[in-house]
Amino acid sequence: MVLVGGYGVVGSEVARLLRARHSALSLALAGRTPGRGEALAREVEAELLTVDLSSSAPLDFSARAVVALVNDPTDRLLRACVRAGIPYVDITRWTARMQQALALMAVEPPRAPVVLASGWMGGVVPLVGAALARELGGATSVETSILYDLADRAGEDSIEFMDRMGLPFEIVEEGRRRLVEPLTGARRPELAGRPRRVLRLDTPEQLTLPLVLGARTVSTRIGLTDESATIALQVLQGLGLFHLFRGERFQNLRRALLRGSGKGGKAVIRVEVSHGSESRDATLVDERGQAHLTAVGATLALERALGLDGAPPPVGVAFPEQVPAPERVLAALRSCGVEFEVRPEQNALVQAA
Ligand SMILES: NC(=O)c1ccc[n+]([C@@H]2O[C@H](COP(=O)([O-])OP(=O)(O)OC[C@H]3O[C@@H](n4cnc5c(N)ncnc54)[C@H](OP(=O)(O)O)[C@@H]3O)[C@@H](O)[C@H]2O)c1
Repeated sequence: MVLVGGYGVVGSEVARLLRARHSALSLALAGRTPGRGEALAREVEAELLTVDLSSSAPLDFSARAVVALVNDPTDRLLRACVRAGIPYVDITRWTARMQQALALMAVEPPRAPVVLASGWMGGVVPLVGAALARELGGATSVETSILYDLADRAGEDSIEFMDRMGLPFEIVEEGRRRLVEPLTGARRPELAGRPRRVLRLDTPEQLTLPLVLGARTVSTRIGLTDESATIALQVLQGLGLFHLFRGERFQNLRRALLRGSGKGGKAVIRVEVSHGSESRDATLVDERGQAHLTAVGATLALERALGLDGAPPPVGVAFPEQVPAPERVLAALRSCGVEFEVRPEQNALVQAA
């Protein structure tokens, strides 16, 4: 099993989870400077490999499977795996990059399973959407609210995703596609004990959930633990100034934000699914933070790609929400240390003033 980016912030959590869940699995952690991964490699009994996705040398390796835990902007890793028939999982692609991968695989169809688990938290959000839809017998709408803890950790490779926070994107609402501005459409769902302002964010499950579940409205919104920071982003966007935050000039500020306080934070996500007159509402909490929760998504995606979840592996490309047994999703999450509460919705959502 080759984890490319395997000693990064998310990669380290994936390596530890895989070792805990599959003691006999052989692991390799790959990156440009594998010396940085020595302690982790000892801890999880993994090999270290040198791989640089930005070099132009042909990528050529054999593996039981590959997990992409670092951006693959020119699809070198994806193409190498598709050509070699290696099962592949990716958690790094924002919507446009996922569409790029799908276009590539229309031209070069994969022989081995490919799980595109780039939905929020390595596909945990769409997985939970599928689980709740199973309980309700379908999904007319899936609305997700994320509470991003400013104390949480994220690595350098996440900066590119953050840079895209100012770009318009498409959503499906009442069955129609429409372009929306990011950081707009405020709502105030209850998250971690009180109402929090959350704003629209471009994430891939807004592309895939309407296709897989037939949902007519799908939205994902994010709020920061410091509400004044959420409001500042909303105001910057409203004034058309968000782009000023992008680019070289503010790179250090974005890095500081991403690294958080260094203390670590917890990940809180609420997924609300409605169908007909019924609804279900799940709030997930991962005390170990968003890198751990993303690693949970990546691990479940890999188990799916290899059939380690007891179901036959998918043929060709699959999204996490195409899970064969959605009724087992919540138990699988719990087995990875994720806590959640599911309830009938109690009209807790209040539109922001
Ligand atoms: N889907 C989701 O919900 C979700 C959530 C969180 C993060 N992510 C994505 O996960 C990725 C990893 O995030 P992170 O916070 O773990 O970042 P990170 O800590 O910077 O980890 C990146 C890892 O990749 C390696 N790397 C960097 N550039 C490389 C290259 N050109 N070729 C090969 N290896 C390279 C780094 O090691 P070297 O520097 O030694 O090469 C490092 O080990 C990001 O793309 C982020 O956007 C997705």
